[in-house]
Amino acid sequence: MMVAVNLLLAIASATAVSSHAVDTLQVETTIGLVHGIINSSTPYHNNIFGFPNACGQDEAGENVNMGVLDQRLAAEWVRDNIAAFGGDTSRMVLGGSSAAASCDFYSYAYPDDAIVSGFIFHSGCTGHGVNTDLAHTNFTFVAEHLGCVDLSLKRNSSICRNTGQLKWTTVIDKITKFENYTKRTLAGKYSKLPAIEGANANEEASLITWPGPAGLNMTYIHEKSLSVYICPAVHHTSLRFQGDSLTFFYFNEANFSSISPRPWEGAYHTSELPLLFGTWEDYGGPGTSVEASVSGHWQDVYLEFMKDPVRGLPRHGWPAFGPNGSAKLMGANGGVSQLMDISILQDECAGIPETYG
Ligand SMILES: *[C@@H]1O[C@H](CO)[C@@H](O)[C@H](O)[C@H]1NC(C)=O
Ligand SMILES: *[C@@H]1O[C@H](CO)[C@@H](O)[C@H](O)[C@H]1NC(C)=O
Ligand SMILES: *[C@@H]1O[C@H](CO)[C@@H](O)[C@H](O)[C@H]1NC(C)=O
Ligand SMILES: *[C@@H]1O[C@H](CO)[C@@H](O)[C@H](O)[C@H]1NC(C)=O
Ligand SMILES: *[C@@H]1O[C@H](CO)[C@@H](O)[C@H](O)[C@H]1NC(C)=O
Ligand SMILES: *[C@@H]1O[C@H](CO)[C@@H](O)[C@H](O)[C@H]1NC(C)=O
Ligand SMILES: *[C@@H]1O[C@H](CO)[C@@H](O)[C@H](O)[C@H]1NC(C)=O
Repeated sequence: MMVAVNLLLAIASATAVSSHAVDTLQVETTIGLVHGIINSSTPYHNNIFGFPNACGQDEAGENVNMGVLDQRLAAEWVRDNIAAFGGDTSRMVLGGSSAAASCDFYSYAYPDDAIVSGFIFHSGCTGHGVNTDLAHTNFTFVAEHLGCVDLSLKRNSSICRNTGQLKWTTVIDKITKFENYTKRTLAGKYSKLPAIEGANANEEASLITWPGPAGLNMTYIHEKSLSVYICPAVHHTSLRFQGDSLTFFYFNEANFSSISPRPWEGAYHTSELPLLFGTWEDYGGPGTSVEASVSGHWQDVYLEFMKDPVRGLPRHGWPAFGPNGSAKLMGANGGVSQLMDISILQDECAGIPETYG
């Protein structure tokens, strides 16, 4: 018998800017078994493979973010084929974390034909990740070292050369990524489907260079977590509200020693994924009962969102974002979940320069 099930199209992520392999631990999950969710995990081209920003592509007028096109291809494939695996195409939600929250780009690139019925943006949105390699030297550097100069340049562009750090991220191609998302959102040029959006309290703790025995500068960690992750998410959510679309905001403070063994780590970048996917024991061994409850609760509420992106969460006590409204606070002070005033975050973000574009 075919059973209609809910479908989380999770975009697996490695950071877009440096060269980590996809962490499959985060997507190999038991969530499907527990909740009747088909976890259709979709690796996509990332880094140099997804966002090569090559000189030759630019000269040919074809400098497109192929990694975002991969996400579209995945959504189309799942739409066309998932019924054969018991999936329900009317209950597809597209979600990702960090670089994979570039599914937010998707929501602007396919405003009227999103295929899915909701989005989940964890620790990333259109507001950050501007490609500053306007001279396209990064790809040339790699191509030359691999003996592929002709392929990389196509034409005679000796200017596309440099030596230095390698960095890959999305470019403004006006197909998958646009110039000014504030303007675009206010003009209503995005998919107005409901979304879950949020960030972790201590994002930057896992993103800086190892500080050595002296430990971290927590002031710096806090400032960076706000300016790069938390505030762009708050701002994006508020823009979506002005555009008349529903966004359910979460703020994660979960700090469990099985995932965050060192005192300064706390809710670092990606630390919520083992909870969401129920894989925390694969990191640091058995967790606590509160940890199990946070994990179970997170899965429960996301399942409600997948079943009914408009009414599911409000029915379970998680209201959509609004001025002076509430965010869902996860794992704070030894608890599972509670509501917090969104104004606390808005106030913290008030003095932070807007990098949203
Ligand atoms: C979830 O997706 C990953 C990657 O495709 C797969 O390895 C894993 O077995 C899946 N988990 C379940 C419960 O289906
Ligand atoms: C890569 O691009 C960055 C700017 O985003 C630049 O600072 C760096 O020098 C470039 N590296 C190479 C090897 O071209
Ligand atoms: C390629 O550029 C170099 C340096 O700018 C120039 O000397 C050379 O003539 C160019 N070759 C062609 C085929 O345009
Ligand atoms: C983006 O658009 C907004 C709204 O139209 C505008 O206020 C802002 O100045 C623009 N930003 C840039 C960098 O052009
Ligand atoms: C810690 O970071 C803050 C904010 O970036 C900076 O003002 C301060 O000087 C740093 N402290 C130390 C000891 O480096
Ligand atoms: C995380 O919890 C531990 C104790 O369980 C505490 O010592 C540490 O300060 C907490 N870290 C953060 C960043 O909140
Ligand atoms: C939000 O709260 C502030 C201060 O508490 C108040 O001045 C403002 O009018 C409120 N805004 C809305 C939309 O309720």
